[in-house]
Amino acid sequence: MCGIVGYVGTRSSVEVLLGGLKRLEYRGYDSAGVAVIDDHGHLDTRKHAGKLGILSDDLVATPLTDGQTGIGHTRWATHGGPTDENAHPHLGDEGKLALIHNGIIENFSELKAELLAGGHTFASQTDSEVAALLVGDAFRESGDLTTAMLSVVNRLEGAFTLLAVHSDQPNVVVGARRNSPLVIGLGEGENFLGSDVAAFVEYTHHAMEIGQDQLVTIRPDSVEVVDFEGTPVSPKTFEVNWDASAAEKGGWSSFMAKEISEEPEAVAKTIIGRVHDGLVDLPEVTALGADVLSSIDRVLIIACGTAAYAGMVGKYAIEQWARIPVDVELAHEFRYREPVLSPNTLVVSISQSGETMDTLMAVKYAREQGARTLSICNTQGATIPRESDAVVYTHAGPEVAVASTKAFVAQITAIYLLGLQLGQARGTLSPERARGLVAELQSVPEKLSTVLATGERIKELAHWMADTRSVLFLGRHVGYPVALEGALKLKELAYIHAEGFAAGELKHGPIALIEPGQVVFVIVPSPRDPSSLHAKVVSNIQEIRARGARVIAIAEEGDVAVLPHADEVIRIPLASPFFEPLLAVVPLHIFGMELAAAKGLDVDQPRNLAKSVTVE
Ligand code: AGP
Repeated sequence: MCGIVGYVGTRSSVEVLLGGLKRLEYRGYDSAGVAVIDDHGHLDTRKHAGKLGILSDDLVATPLTDGQTGIGHTRWATHGGPTDENAHPHLGDEGKLALIHNGIIENFSELKAELLAGGHTFASQTDSEVAALLVGDAFRESGDLTTAMLSVVNRLEGAFTLLAVHSDQPNVVVGARRNSPLVIGLGEGENFLGSDVAAFVEYTHHAMEIGQDQLVTIRPDSVEVVDFEGTPVSPKTFEVNWDASAAEKGGWSSFMAKEISEEPEAVAKTIIGRVHDGLVDLPEVTALGADVLSSIDRVLIIACGTAAYAGMVGKYAIEQWARIPVDVELAHEFRYREPVLSPNTLVVSISQSGETMDTLMAVKYAREQGARTLSICNTQGATIPRESDAVVYTHAGPEVAVASTKAFVAQITAIYLLGLQLGQARGTLSPERARGLVAELQSVPEKLSTVLATGERIKELAHWMADTRSVLFLGRHVGYPVALEGALKLKELAYIHAEGFAAGELKHGPIALIEPGQVVFVIVPSPRDPSSLHAKVVSNIQEIRARGARVIAIAEEGDVAVLPHADEVIRIPLASPFFEPLLAVVPLHIFGMELAAAKGLDVDQPRNLAKSVTVE
């Protein structure tokens, strides 16, 4: 989704804006633009459809008159195609005001009709230009950008982050947000605004949240935040716990390759500081109160995409360890069925970005219905944690590649910590059993490193299968969400048909898909598990092999029963059933990445996708 940067200070605005937009590229976009006010109060804008490089090259060839006040934007088209005219910034007040927007203004049609009736003409097909013209008109009345923005935001419906500058007020940038991301970077004699901290982390680690329906005015030496009624508010500040290099490739061929290599660290850092005396200690959860924890009679996990699959893995664990019924819902489906919630329902949202609109709106609905809400999120200061009663941050570091990898294993780790904490608090887990599970969780990072070290064969398979047109994935129990995750990676990275199935479902229809040469990955449960799942999955492999499938089994070291039935066996270290997903998923992440690379595709920014889907 759109990237947003604002700056006031003593540096070159063009340099700060382009640098910030570069670090926000991962959010996915199709055009880019900047607006700068120079020292003489002249406002200049430049914008282009296409990648940031087109804009940068143009600014080198034909520089803007630089200044110390500016806004920058990368657009992911919603209203109107990716064209130069539809790129942001948009202008108001006869070109003296520039405005950028992330989100969707749902009542823009009626506002546009009002503006047209008032004699305005439009240069674009966007909803954003409506806001630019309205703020420009309001500025002509008040002569103050904060006042102008305040009068307009109360007329807008939908989701928006707006930034605006006006040539009559150099050294001022005004921003406003509703259901869309915006965060403040606090500097010395300079201040920043960004759709996330990556926009300014190169210059400052000191940040401030902006809450729902709040408006901020930044000057080089001041930051003022008010609510949409104009009442001053004092948002929380926080320190960004990673630096700009963490959001760089660091010599890797892609951000995705770098982030897969960080999966062990993502798990380890999510655990650090949360185990004491061998037991989980999550103050973020215990702060809800012992009475609340004991009164929870249902857990609802809401998320989208990969995050939802992490939630599906967590379902098994929480039910096993805390003996609480758990359902996992796709966030975009959740509120439209008017679910029955109560104060004893714990709604757990999982979101890497913390800005996914589908998940955010589901969380807000759950709170309105009286449920308790807890967010598992990887982005400090993001909107979803702020809308939740509690938050358990994953500490995977910035995940830049659109395809989520290290966040997935960190999300499973966090939800396991939650399940263990609930089990300990409710007495459904004895201390010794809890300590055993905690110790096994703590052994995962080293096992992940082992899997990464043996990734060559899966890379060879990916390159050998570069022309494949369809891949199926089978898993059972906690292996089923891993099968879904493996299929999603192939769809979003290599653009080929891929589907994940519960292995037991095969005979109920999908086995008809099997024909000679059909590639099928199978996540094989541990043969050491006392359940009969291993035998059943080996039978499934025999059934599809008998029909010509080419089977690639992900199986633990020492599992010999699978050998006669699989064409390839990718080994993972021994682990108890609940910890296998954290290991089995890594070869599938590598496979998706390598197959996309073999096809010459953009691994980090796949077509049509955005890192954070901030529109419903
Ligand atoms: C995963 O590879 C995809 N990029 C996508 O499914 C993603 O997991 C989903 O959009 C949820 O994003 P979030 O975790 O930021 O909420």
